[in-house]
Amino acid sequence: MPTYKLLLLPGDGIGPEVMGQVQTVIGVLAETGIATFETETDLVGGAAIDAHGKPLADATLARADAADAILLGAVGGPKWNGVAYDIRPEAGLLRLRKDLGLFANLRPAICYPALAEASALKRELVEGLDIMIVRELTGGVYFGEPKEITTLPDGSKRAVDTQVYTTGEIERIAHVAFDLARKRSGRVASAEKNNVMKSGVLWKEVVTQVHAAHYADVALEHVLADNCAMQLVRRPKQFDVLVTDNLFGDVLSDVAAMLTGSLGMLPSASLGAVDARGTRKALYEPVHGSAPDIAGQDLANPLAMIGSLAMALRYSFGLGEAADLLDGAITDALAGGARTKDIAGDGAKVLGTAGMGEAVVSALRARMR
Ligand code: NAD
Ligand code: IPM
Ligand code: MN
Repeated sequence: MPTYKLLLLPGDGIGPEVMGQVQTVIGVLAETGIATFETETDLVGGAAIDAHGKPLADATLARADAADAILLGAVGGPKWNGVAYDIRPEAGLLRLRKDLGLFANLRPAICYPALAEASALKRELVEGLDIMIVRELTGGVYFGEPKEITTLPDGSKRAVDTQVYTTGEIERIAHVAFDLARKRSGRVASAEKNNVMKSGVLWKEVVTQVHAAHYADVALEHVLADNCAMQLVRRPKQFDVLVTDNLFGDVLSDVAAMLTGSLGMLPSASLGAVDARGTRKALYEPVHGSAPDIAGQDLANPLAMIGSLAMALRYSFGLGEAADLLDGAITDALAGGARTKDIAGDGAKVLGTAGMGEAVVSALRARMR
């Protein structure tokens, strides 16, 4: 059985709490002979600021670069509200994404059968929901220059963020979306705002070209991003693969999260380009943040973090069956009534973070018997 090198970056707030459950699951995977991981743990975000004065030490970046995959909990929190913009906790995560070239962020929004009632929408709108949001992650307004606040002659200020996309950046994310669609229902929706943004005009043009040149078998639909947000709430099952830019993808994935019951349910994979050896850099993290309002209270839902490990098994290690097993264990735990507070309906027995982790582990063991 090969051993994979995993770098664990628990981060801040609920990050270490949900990562703790993943470490338990990793132990069970090893003990039952499914997969062995050599894990290292390091600091990112506010925890790294406290230790090193910056949110990502160079040595940590080097470790991340050398790992087969990275698992990250969450970064940020009110404790670091006052730090300089360039060294805020979130900057550590952005540097990891940018410097490792993790341009393709896959955010699957699945409504588990047992959670149809936990969704913010009516059961019939979300039952069977399975959307794959493909968010461009290393371009757009997150990284465009200039990005600054300047003072005008009258003493007032002017803030600038710059939305930039090149043909190459749009082409490669479009390929990821179309390739995924081929393995799913064969449909892609591309969201931008070509009615007001030049980057939207180019986005639509390039996605259309990539489609025409390589993916005639896939159905492509263009949708304006504001309408897309509305459609996600109106009739979400019309979407299968949804490809969009960095900022729209951030917002639309939080919307999609609530269709599944909670932000605590959405895992993600951030993938780089496939290299000559057929491998790619990858970071796996929940879509949610450090949730300062519930941190340290054993209230966080660990399923997004555990689901992120399942994505690592699938996308980094070619362990599709093990990933199915773990996803199946999550399904079984929920079907058996396991609920953290965020997904509990009236009268449900509520488990803490560790309790939910245990429910997944026992479901995993049961599936392996
Ligand atoms: P958040 O995602 O941390 O929390 C939003 C709401 O969802 C909160 O009410 C929280 O309690 C709830 N929630 C989130 N995850 C949950 C879970 N696993 N179980 C149960 N409930 C959960 O977003 P925020 O409050 O806007 O941001 C807090 C901090 O996190 C900020 O510093 C932000 O920059 C950072 N953040 C980090 C990441 C990341 O590390 N990838 C992602 C988003 C936000
Ligand atoms: C996310 C987060 C990050 C983002 C922040 C923490 C930088 O919201 O991963 O969704 O905006 O990309
Ligand atoms: Mn976000």
